Amino acid sequence: MTNEEVFFKWLPEYSVNIKTIDDQHQELVNILNRLFVAVSKREGSNAIAGILDALTSYTRTHFALEERLMREAKYKDLIPHMEEHRKLITQLDELCNKHMMEEKPIYFEMLSFLKSWLRDHIQGVDTKYSAALQQSGFSVASWEREASAEFALMSASKKWWEVWKVA
Ligand SMILES: [Fe+2]
Repeated sequence: MTNEEVFFKWLPEYSVNIKTIDDQHQELVNILNRLFVAVSKREGSNAIAGILDALTSYTRTHFALEERLMREAKYKDLIPHMEEHRKLITQLDELCNKHMMEEKPIYFEMLSFLKSWLRDHIQGVDTKYSAALQQSGFSVASWEREASAEFALMSASKKWWEVWKVA
C-alpha cells in the first residue's frame, strides 16, 4: 500500500502524550486500515469477520485500560467518557452481527464512520483526560510501566495481530 492509498494516516497531532495509549490508538488505526484493504479487495466473508473480531477485541481491551487509568487517577469525567466507549461498542457489535448473521458486506460508510469516531474521540475527550491527568500530578509514567507489562501479557495470549497483519 503506498502512502496515497492509506485510508487512515496517523498524524503526530493525534498523540495524547501517553505512549501506551498512543501505541494502542495506532494499533486501532492499523486494524481499520487492514479492514479497508480487505473490503476494497473483496477478500471475502471469513477474512473480514476475522478483522472485525480483532477490531472489537482490541477496542474492548483498549477501552478497559483507558477506563482503569482514568479511575485510578480519579478523573472527574470518567462516567461520561465510559458512556462514549459503551455506545461505540454497541455500534461495533451491531456491525459485526449484521456482517456475520446476514452476511451483508461492510460498507465504506461504516469505515468512514469508525475513522471519524476514532479521530474525534482521540482529539476530543482522550486529549482532555490526558491533559487533566498530567496537570493533576498523577504519575502517568509509573502507571504506564505497569500497564505495558500487563498489555504485553494480554497481547501474547490473544494474538489478534496475526489476523490482521496477514495482508
Ligand atoms: Fe477514550
